[in-house]
Amino acid sequence: MTGAPWPSGTGRQTDGALVVGGVDVRDLAAEHGTPAYVLDEADFRMRARAYRTAFEAAFGAVGAGVDVYYAGKALLTVAVARWAREEGLRVDTASGGELAIALRAEVPGAEIGLHGNNKSDAEIRRALDAGVGRIIVDSLVEIERVARLAAERGVVAPVMVRVTTGVHAGGHEYIATAHEDQKFGLSVNPAREGAESPAMAALLAVLKHPELKLLGIHSHIGSQIIDPDGFEAAARVVLRLRADLAERSGLLVDEVDLGGGYGIAYLPGDVALDPERVAKDIAQSVSAVCQELGTGLPRFSIEPGRAIVGPAGVTLYTVGTVKPVTVSSDGGADFTRTYVSVDGGMSDNIRPALYGAAYHAEIVGRSSSAESMLARVVGKHCESGDIVVHEVQLPADVRAGDLLAVAATGAYGRSMASNYNMLPRPPVVAVSDGASRVLVRRETEDDLLGLDLG
Ligand code: LLP
Repeated sequence: MTGAPWPSGTGRQTDGALVVGGVDVRDLAAEHGTPAYVLDEADFRMRARAYRTAFEAAFGAVGAGVDVYYAGKALLTVAVARWAREEGLRVDTASGGELAIALRAEVPGAEIGLHGNNKSDAEIRRALDAGVGRIIVDSLVEIERVARLAAERGVVAPVMVRVTTGVHAGGHEYIATAHEDQKFGLSVNPAREGAESPAMAALLAVLKHPELKLLGIHSHIGSQIIDPDGFEAAARVVLRLRADLAERSGLLVDEVDLGGGYGIAYLPGDVALDPERVAKDIAQSVSAVCQELGTGLPRFSIEPGRAIVGPAGVTLYTVGTVKPVTVSSDGGADFTRTYVSVDGGMSDNIRPALYGAAYHAEIVGRSSSAESMLARVVGKHCESGDIVVHEVQLPADVRAGDLLAVAATGAYGRSMASNYNMLPRPPVVAVSDGASRVLVRRETEDDLLGLDLG
């Protein structure tokens, strides 16, 4: 077995070829071409189940219910939405397009949430018509908009208010500031002393509308979080706001959503958040906080995306060129970095260029006894920042035609892909029990030209 950051069902044949979900990557490349996003269905299902059962057990133990929403922004296809549902997850969407996929997958409206800081009238209407279980509102303007559209349709819209707690997390630490300088949510901190906080004002505004039903409060603190303390700190703030609202309005809201952000392993040796540990920590902490506040426990929900689909994905490329480049280093000796160009790049994975994200790559179509060398895997785009893997050791005999795989690309790869330089986007191919199946076909030049009306 190969181990993290590869999908759990990954291994090597005796001749060195990588096998994902029981399928040899050489067969995948021959059948589907490269680049291709490969998704290990069993790995996805296993992580979906692990999150659901860990949170159900931990929250159940303190007497609270919990729902797990799969955050579709990480990767949503009809089959992926079905897998999530079959594993007992609900689906969190962030646009009309994501909502359309969830509905095509026949996820019941009641099990869908709709997010977004600037939902259009059309998106809200569609959500109301589908009977979505929750619309997470993000501003006073939007509260009025949803109320107006619900009134127009003669329905009551179930809403949660997205708040910012001042707790911000990501990477290996969290920070807490009073005033968050970002577009999402409504702050629990008043603009000046003695004033109403934007979060409380929004909650009270929702209660004024008979067309809106206030389900609860939503908080999402960041992404790729490794330190669980941030979740607990944010939950404490949200639960206090819930108690304050009960004091102000007499309504103790039923639900609290703690958002997503659970971190995964991208590189060998990285430690992912353990769902069981983090679920236990959060459950015990929220139970203690509710006891302190003298309120009953709400029903909780969480929205993991990356932690479910990230590790299940591998991107398969073909090496096109190999070029040693002499690099002069400040004060040190010159060294050689070998640039290995593959047939995709920043159009199929923008994360290294956008966030400086680190990935791991290996040559996967064969074994090699050559020494390893410092390499940089780059794409084929007209841009020097088109880097797939900044630094990785590859066998020194890497050559054109080699298959190269990048691990842990399941989340925010295909979902953030572009057609830069008119590159058609790669297919999403599911592997399971030794067979492969195309979930989303490769784009063609005709697809792209079809959009251009000349
Ligand atoms: N819930 C809400 C309200 C969110 O905004 C997000 C992510 C999630 C859940 C899911 O977070 P996850 O569990 O996947 O970390 N493109 C960036 C990540 C952006 C995340 C935005 N919101 C990346 O590639 O790292």
